[in-house]
Amino acid sequence: MQSRVCVVAGLIRVDGKTYRYMGPASVVRGVTTSSVTQTNVTVFPTRTVYEFHQDGVQLVVTFVTPAMYLDDDDIPDMFSAILPVSYITLDVKSIDGKKHNVQLYYDNSGEPTVMNASENIQWSRAQADGVAMLSIGTVEQNYVGQTSDRINWGYWYLSFLEDNSTSSVITSDATARSFFSLGKPFPSTDDHPPRPCNDNWPVLAVSWDLGSVGSEPVRRFVSIVYDQVYSIRYFGHNMAPLWRLNWEGNVTDMLTVSVGDAASLNITDDCAKFDETLLKHFRSVGGDNFTTLASLAWRQVIGSTDYVYNDKEDAPWGFLKEISSGGFVSTVDVLLPAAPVFLYKFPQTFLTLLLPILAFANNETHIYGDNVSYNLSWAPHSLGHWPVCDMRPNQEEQMPMEVTADMLIMLAQVSKFDDTVFFTKYWPLLRGWGDYLLDNLPDPASQLCTDDFEGPSPHNVNLAAKGIIGVAALAHILTLDGQKEAAKKYSSRLSDFILFWLKNASDGNHYDRQYDVPSSWSMKYNLMFQKALNLDLFPQSVFDTECAFYQEKLTFYGIPLDERHDYTKADWLMFTAAMCNDEQFMAITDRLYRFATETTDRVPLTDWYDASTGRRQGFQGRAVVGGLLSRMLMK
Ligand SMILES: *[C@@H]1O[C@H](CO)[C@@H](O)[C@H](O)[C@H]1NC(C)=O
Ligand SMILES: *[C@@H]1O[C@H](CO)[C@@H](O)[C@H](O)[C@H]1NC(C)=O
Ligand SMILES: *[C@@H]1O[C@H](CO)[C@@H](O)[C@H](O)[C@H]1NC(C)=O
Ligand SMILES: *[C@@H]1O[C@H](CO)[C@@H](O)[C@H](O)[C@H]1NC(C)=O
Ligand SMILES: *[C@@H]1O[C@H](CO)[C@@H](O)[C@H](O)[C@H]1NC(C)=O
Ligand SMILES: *[C@@H]1O[C@H](CO)[C@@H](O)[C@H](O)[C@H]1NC(C)=O
Ligand SMILES: *[C@@H]1O[C@H](CO)[C@@H](O)[C@H](O)[C@H]1NC(C)=O
Ligand SMILES: *[C@@H]1O[C@H](CO)[C@@H](O)[C@H](O)[C@H]1NC(C)=O
Ligand SMILES: *[C@@H]1O[C@H](CO)[C@@H](O)[C@H](O)[C@H]1NC(C)=O
Ligand SMILES: *[C@@H]1O[C@H](CO)[C@@H](O)[C@H](O)[C@H]1NC(C)=O
Repeated sequence: MQSRVCVVAGLIRVDGKTYRYMGPASVVRGVTTSSVTQTNVTVFPTRTVYEFHQDGVQLVVTFVTPAMYLDDDDIPDMFSAILPVSYITLDVKSIDGKKHNVQLYYDNSGEPTVMNASENIQWSRAQADGVAMLSIGTVEQNYVGQTSDRINWGYWYLSFLEDNSTSSVITSDATARSFFSLGKPFPSTDDHPPRPCNDNWPVLAVSWDLGSVGSEPVRRFVSIVYDQVYSIRYFGHNMAPLWRLNWEGNVTDMLTVSVGDAASLNITDDCAKFDETLLKHFRSVGGDNFTTLASLAWRQVIGSTDYVYNDKEDAPWGFLKEISSGGFVSTVDVLLPAAPVFLYKFPQTFLTLLLPILAFANNETHIYGDNVSYNLSWAPHSLGHWPVCDMRPNQEEQMPMEVTADMLIMLAQVSKFDDTVFFTKYWPLLRGWGDYLLDNLPDPASQLCTDDFEGPSPHNVNLAAKGIIGVAALAHILTLDGQKEAAKKYSSRLSDFILFWLKNASDGNHYDRQYDVPSSWSMKYNLMFQKALNLDLFPQSVFDTECAFYQEKLTFYGIPLDERHDYTKADWLMFTAAMCNDEQFMAITDRLYRFATETTDRVPLTDWYDASTGRRQGFQGRAVVGGLLSRMLMK
């Protein structure tokens, strides 16, 4: 067994000299390789573009996931976020007026398909309509058999157009990489499967001999697809990825089209056009720094969702993974901060992410084989540990008021775009949730709130504001559905709740964090959804007072969450910024931008960091950064 070298490797030969564009110096075992010189990198919503210059040649490497659409049935599948397809595009040209001899190389090992590198893996290849498909996956294929950050079932496909410039092989990393580096042809046959993933690390390798390259750009690309076969187990029932329904489970067909058409449809450039339109809109709403932050957040949100076909209901369902903080499925207080991306661009799809939670809370799990009595009067917190939904109500991390109000607020947002008839079977459940809120407002007593890392948060003023907006959200959708009397039951209590809140929380130039702790303060980020839903609840003076106060609390990298710690949350910062005036919004946005550019923690964007030092406190790569786009819901 060899120690791990790298999962993905990229090499380029220019006039007989080998350089690496992906992977460490030791990417070729036993040889130290130099890297190409990086001249630029830009993160767009659907693309990351790297530019390199070496020995008179420019190489542009673009990582593309064309997840541009979710809602629209009329667009080719290829542009839909339900398709698990990404591309790596390699564009090469001469930039010194001379011709250069160029070869390109890409490979990846089987590591993305295992939980443990000693697992046995198998591989194979196929060819259809000029598209080569190399695949790799475990021998065992124990579908949805464990919960962890890795899956060890399904297959990874590497596909590319085959022409007379292409060579490919499935062999050990050392063989494939060193043969390419030395300009030797690949071995003529693939290694025989199976063997453990870490036994001479088998890789799927492809190379292109571009011959003599001049100033005219030459493009090659690979597509990367993960076919999970089954994505989710919902209370005993395995559900397949949604795209498998459209393609009748025929992966070969899907790959042939997604690779074949990618060339003719010019997918990288189409994504560039999509990004441009999006960036223009971001810029007009929030300026340059906001645009950069929104671009960075986009893929982190879309990428944490998965869409399946629920064959029992003949309906598309969506699930969200709580990445890095517990690995839960469809955590309600992660869905809410993620929501702005969906509500801005894919509101109808957002409902599919709420349906599995409604079904669980409504005692529908017997349809799927399990039969859970959901006997709590408030909403569930999550469905289980990804990808297995099997949560019992008494195993939940209970945040009653938080998640109950979250659900009602999200449903009210969705009802802007969808018919409320959809809720018919859920009215008793939703009214029950409204009753829970009425019984526990205007002071939520001692409840956990979403910021559970703070510990218990008794008499939480911000949580009370969310509860109040949750009640108003329910009254709003009942009214939309024509249920005027039912709506009145909820709306009639609102003014008393708000009066209590205003009187009890008021503390001169701001409102307190805790009803019974004078001089405490906190960001009242929950008020943002009053504006997004356009509800007439808390007076504008509350927003004016709080927003002015936050400006006094600005630190180098943001605003602390409250007076107890220096740390803050990026999502809540931008919820807060969204509900303030333009100048206040900019001041907050610029600080988060500064954090994102200057922090020394090299992790996928974190949402929990120290607002004075700019160091990560915890969490990374979470979908909650969808909250960075909150301003898009205001205008
Ligand atoms: C880097 O690339 C971006 C996007 O293509 C471009 O706007 C920017 O000008 C480039 N910067 C440099 C230094 O080339
Ligand atoms: C991986 O599997 C091997 C063989 O079953 C076992 O010895 C090892 O402890 C496992 N490693 C991890 C991290 O689970
Ligand atoms: C490869 O094919 C192209 C056109 O299909 C042709 O122009 C070129 O000469 C071929 N190269 C070799 C090495 O056969
Ligand atoms: C997939 O579809 C192609 C035709 O487009 C067919 O030749 C092939 O047999 C199908 N594969 C499976 C597994 O059904
Ligand atoms: C792809 O799009 C770019 C920019 O829109 C254009 O310059 C190029 O010619 C297109 N290529 C093809 C093959 O259509
Ligand atoms: C589910 O359990 C409840 C009580 O726990 C029972 O009344 C009901 O009949 C069960 N449903 C099915 C379909 O088994
Ligand atoms: C679900 O079942 C539990 C236990 O039987 C019950 O308390 C609860 O009211 C039911 N929920 C709904 C929405 O009917
Ligand atoms: C809900 O059901 C569980 C399991 O049967 C039980 O332990 C718990 O006490 C019940 N909770 C309520 C609030 O009824
Ligand atoms: C404010 O709320 C706290 C906690 O509920 C309570 O102890 C206190 O009496 C209230 N004060 C006023 C002025 O309502
Ligand atoms: C972006 O934020 C940085 C850091 O706070 C600030 O220096 C810069 O002026 C801002 N840029 C724009 C265009 O607002």
